[in-house]
Amino acid sequence: MATEMKAPPSDKKEIVDIHYPYRDLVARTSPGGRYIDTPDDNETPWVPFGDNAAIKHIAFDVRQNIFSNILWVKSPGTIGTHFHRGTIMMVCLEGSVRYLEYDWVAQPQGVILETPGESHTLVTEHPDGVKLFGWMQGPIDFFDADGKFVDTTDVFWFMNHYETYCREQGIPINPKLYL
Ligand SMILES: [Fe+2]
Repeated sequence: MATEMKAPPSDKKEIVDIHYPYRDLVARTSPGGRYIDTPDDNETPWVPFGDNAAIKHIAFDVRQNIFSNILWVKSPGTIGTHFHRGTIMMVCLEGSVRYLEYDWVAQPQGVILETPGESHTLVTEHPDGVKLFGWMQGPIDFFDADGKFVDTTDVFWFMNHYETYCREQGIPINPKLYL
């Protein structure tokens, strides 16, 4: 079986019209791709998440209960035990992080996959904490140290987290974050 990509590499920097027949439908119905300039705090601010963490919200998709953000735990600390009812993909951007339940430590560029039915407790022991990019789907249930249910987070929880902070700080809501 050939493993080579058949499409030739382009030597031009030109937009090519591929004549997709449903372009009007795409224009009418698709939320559209976009660039979120996450390093720019005007595009999406760091919203406090407890005393030692903050979240930069990136995307809210209410149809699929998908939410995306960068979680920043600023110094050694813990995100309490939580239970997933959906699938999550995270990429470690800076620092490092591990879970009490697993034997690995995520390093920058390391990828974490979490699937429904798992509960775990996130710990960073790095002096600078950790920054994690996450693309998350489905509700997440949080528990206290005694295993008692505390709260559920989902796309609306994260949206409310973002919008409440924007209202309090007089920051305009960024429509680009809504898919
Ligand atoms: Fe998790």
